[in-house]
Amino acid sequence: MLLRKARCLGHLLGGQHHNCSATRVPFTYRRAMTRQKALRSPRVIVSSTASLDGRITLSRPERLLTPAVDRRWKSHWPPDVPELIAQRAANIEERHHPTIFLEGSGSFVADTASPVTGVAGQHDPSDLRCDWLPALATKWFVVVDGRGRVPWSFTGNADTRLLVLVSARTPLAYLAWLRTLKVPYLIAGDDRVDLGLALKKMAHLLEATSIVSDGGGGINGALLRSGLVDEIQLIWFPAVIGGADTPSSFDGDSLTPGQEPLSMTHRGTIVGRCGSIWSRYEAAAGPGSVGNP
Ligand SMILES: NC(=O)c1ccc[n+]([C@@H]2O[C@H](COP(=O)([O-])OP(=O)(O)OC[C@H]3O[C@@H](n4cnc5c(N)ncnc54)[C@H](OP(=O)(O)O)[C@@H]3O)[C@@H](O)[C@H]2O)c1
Repeated sequence: MLLRKARCLGHLLGGQHHNCSATRVPFTYRRAMTRQKALRSPRVIVSSTASLDGRITLSRPERLLTPAVDRRWKSHWPPDVPELIAQRAANIEERHHPTIFLEGSGSFVADTASPVTGVAGQHDPSDLRCDWLPALATKWFVVVDGRGRVPWSFTGNADTRLLVLVSARTPLAYLAWLRTLKVPYLIAGDDRVDLGLALKKMAHLLEATSIVSDGGGGINGALLRSGLVDEIQLIWFPAVIGGADTPSSFDGDSLTPGQEPLSMTHRGTIVGRCGSIWSRYEAAAGPGSVGNP
């Protein structure tokens, strides 16, 4: 019954239909899902911490997961930034109870990184092109890695489990490696990861109703251009970084000529004791509200 439900998922969600004999859906997942629920997309909240000019790291090659970069980045934070970050997290938790925290591969590897290679895996190739969800978790750390480039060393703890979003083009060796690591993955899209389809799959299979993007400008920009951003929670700290190529809260494709920006409605601002700012906005309804033409 559960396997049949999983096989029908591609059809239900309007994506490709894989005949996946070994798609795994956890045995704890027993509630009947209606078609309406399967098609509903989770709310997407973008949570970003930036300099006054919107930059989210010091320069393109410097990622915040590198301890020395993180130290330099935070050395420009006045003491109110961690306070505002804690208040923002509490606000999001109280209002949305998110169970999915999304990031892009750019938080972990350089733009120029190659796919992970040379990883052993004893799996049937056709089986590998199926969603792999051997167990459920209460919280998920979800990373888009369509090119199979992140060499995972941390795959979760008692509270939060890693899940990778991949596409039909993701190298098989990487999928085999994820299975060896027991890291679940969901397939969405033929080339790049289809973020809209991935959200619907997470709603259906993980029962996600809201997703927080803690990612960089690339993944946030892709969510924006796909018309998937519902709420933005931004913290600005009083420093200016500059640099045309320095990642910002939203990068990705430029607007096409005539394409409208996403209009937002202000929902609240708190100014910290040292002048840092936390503002909340929700996507406005009406003309110009959707960043997608
Ligand atoms: N200050 C902050 O709040 C904050 C938060 C997070 C990160 N950061 C920093 O930001 C930097 C990373 O930002 P970034 O922009 O380089 O990386 P990024 O946001 O991770 O953007 C690249 C990701 O977006 C995906 N992507 C891009 N376009 C897409 C599309 N059209 N459809 C589907 N997926 C798409 C890529 O998928 P593929 O992998 O499949 O190509 C990749 O996963 C790092 O320095 C990091 O430390 C700062």
